[in-house]
Amino acid sequence: MTINRRNFIGLAALSATTAALAACGGEGAGTTSNPTTSAAAGGETTAAETTAAETTGAATEGGKVGVSMPTQTSERWIADGEAVKSQLEEAGFEVDLQFANDDIPTQSQQIDQMILQGAKVLIIASIDGTALAPQLDAAAAEGIKIIAYDRLIRDSEHVDFYVSFDNFKVGVAQGTSLLEGLGLVDADGNETDEAGPFNVELFAGSLDDNNAHFFFDGAMSVIQPHIDSGKLVVPSGQTSIEQAAILRWQQETAQRRMEDLLTAHYGDKEIHGVLSAYDGLSRGIITALQNAGYSAPDMPIVTGQDAEIASVKLIMDDVQYSTIFKDTRLLAEQAVKAGVSLLNGEEPEANDTETYENGVKVVPAYLLDVVTVTKDNVVEALVDTGYWTQEQVDSGVA
Ligand code: BGC
Repeated sequence: MTINRRNFIGLAALSATTAALAACGGEGAGTTSNPTTSAAAGGETTAAETTAAETTGAATEGGKVGVSMPTQTSERWIADGEAVKSQLEEAGFEVDLQFANDDIPTQSQQIDQMILQGAKVLIIASIDGTALAPQLDAAAAEGIKIIAYDRLIRDSEHVDFYVSFDNFKVGVAQGTSLLEGLGLVDADGNETDEAGPFNVELFAGSLDDNNAHFFFDGAMSVIQPHIDSGKLVVPSGQTSIEQAAILRWQQETAQRRMEDLLTAHYGDKEIHGVLSAYDGLSRGIITALQNAGYSAPDMPIVTGQDAEIASVKLIMDDVQYSTIFKDTRLLAEQAVKAGVSLLNGEEPEANDTETYENGVKVVPAYLLDVVTVTKDNVVEALVDTGYWTQEQVDSGVA
């Protein structure tokens, strides 16, 4: 059987988020300039600036905020860090932004320092969601408010708020995109007559990242029925998240696992699709596939996440099938809003007060929507919204 990706183009259905993105304009994920500068140049005010200006109250003037990001090895966290920093500064805060190099002790020490230096709010994207309880205890003793940024911090009662995307939906979108790319469902998500069977393998994120579980569960909620019906086959038999997980989301680890799977299980068969939870993993997987002789336009269907520019280029070149776009500008905006509310003694606006149980309590959350991106809607989703420029998409370089 052949996979006709042209017949099964991506969801292309942009969520309501897209309208908000279009209105947002301005910063690309890879840019680090201050929004003030770009807005001045563009002669318009970004949504983020409006929010920041509107939400700035006298009570927040001059406060210190510590922003702790996990790593600079992935574009998205750099973009997140810069977006949060610039929006906080715009709202009148002093910001200490630190990246922890994917090293847990480094992140703990950086947060200790932020507490010592008098931060009033900490915005934290954790490396290991279970490793920061001592820091949170110390922060709470000083009356410091804690916002878990994108990744839930677990096992602590001191997480005041959580801002993220709808992580289960991200997984559903990834799984659905794999099914679409293979032709098992159509663009509306309805089952087709295609019977397969297709050989696929599954790659999940880091087990210590709460999100990885939501992504995998979401994806398996749509994939498992097709495994059960025999339309999808996982030749390695590795279908649990423990087997599929890639520690710290490392590209090299994903490449090695894919190489091992190809060697062990594909001597006499083709692989048709790979569920990949993140663009960095996808690039490792793709390298392994290319080294094994697969090439565009007949690459297996490979999913992703984050719309990293190198992966967007691979999508344009028919090498990667899809990614999930998460607009870090909008997430930063929610984090800033939540921080201002907490400092003003108010409860931040939540749109989910049930899902994110962190082992001690249910953390109120504000979750944003995401957009599935394939070759068909790269321009609409990423260029028209100002996330990447056409030039960046063409070159694959931020
Ligand atoms: C984020 C994803 C990202 C992954 C690897 C997750 O916690 O939600 O957007 O792809 O970490 O950095």
